[in-house]
Amino acid sequence: SPPLRILGIETSCDETAASVVLRDEEGAGRILGDVVLSQLEEHSAYGGVVPEIAARAHVEALDTLIAEALLRAGVTLEEIDAIAATSGPGLIGGLIVGLMTGKAIARATGKPLYAVNHLEGHALTARLTDGLSFPYLMLLVSGGHTQLILVKGVGDYERWGTTIDDALGEAFDKTAKLLGLPYPGGPAVERAARTGNPERFDFPRPLVGDARLDFSFSGLKTAVRQAAQSLEPVEEQDIADICASFQRAIARTLKDRVGRGLKRFKADYASVDQPALVVAGGVAANQTLRATLQALCDAHGFRFIAPPLELCTDNAAMIAWAGAERLAAGLPADGLDVAPRSRWP
Ligand code: KG4
Ligand code: ZN
Repeated sequence: SPPLRILGIETSCDETAASVVLRDEEGAGRILGDVVLSQLEEHSAYGGVVPEIAARAHVEALDTLIAEALLRAGVTLEEIDAIAATSGPGLIGGLIVGLMTGKAIARATGKPLYAVNHLEGHALTARLTDGLSFPYLMLLVSGGHTQLILVKGVGDYERWGTTIDDALGEAFDKTAKLLGLPYPGGPAVERAARTGNPERFDFPRPLVGDARLDFSFSGLKTAVRQAAQSLEPVEEQDIADICASFQRAIARTLKDRVGRGLKRFKADYASVDQPALVVAGGVAANQTLRATLQALCDAHGFRFIAPPLELCTDNAAMIAWAGAERLAAGLPADGLDVAPRSRWP
């Protein structure tokens, strides 16, 4: 297909983001302009994302961010080939803001609109950053999602595993809260774990050995609570040891669950000579878990692909890219009556 310039909009959680991405004739991607505004400060006092505050913050910021992304890209709205806006899954207030803005631009400019599934954005990012070809496996670990997905083609995905209770990022956030560490919990737990003893507590590793590829993390949180209660008053070294032991339990769980997925991929796609595992989501920032996944991939002969952190976490470049992929694949644009979906597997 000819070169495509796509405007992407992301507002499904607590990041307001706009981006312009180019897909060239060969199918290679390049980010021309990319801006992300985190609402972390608005929500941190509440220890989590407050949907109403998020929606209002998106309204206030989005127009300016879109103008900024276009400016940085050196592209006018008239030169855009299509608009891609996240339409789910996520917080409904934010989704309405982003999707309605996308519709308004599509209406005003007469350009096609793609209503993008946020998870599809994460799933296709490795094609933007690394030009990866189908099929490959993706592990998405964020505050809202824990999924192992087989990416077969544009619009062609199989969910192999998901969490049956808490998302992995949620487990980090809840554990941090229990231990009196700041929000968001992931970075705080990782920092505390550095000086901790990972052998001190033998925390549960739910579903390890199970033939399904699902995850479960709520039992781990309960075990952390019990460990903390048994130690009252909890000293700083106790917190460090709990965090280190918590990360070790998660590393072992991922090794078992994802390892099983890698084996299944090799069995199902024996002809793929360079199998790959891509990781995405905020938890992918965690160095211990990254190292675990890298070692696992090395052991199974997989390439391990971790896109740059700013493209692992929520951003609009991945949404623009998903729109570009859909357009290039000849998939139809969405009508302006398309509705946002808070749930969208
Ligand atoms: O992808 P993300 O920025 O937002 C969505 O949830 O969509 O992920 C945020 C999650 C939070 O739960 C946060 O605690 C977790 O990612 N996280 C981490 C680390 N950095 C962020 N978890 C573990 N270790 C980290 N270094
Ligand atoms: Zn996300």
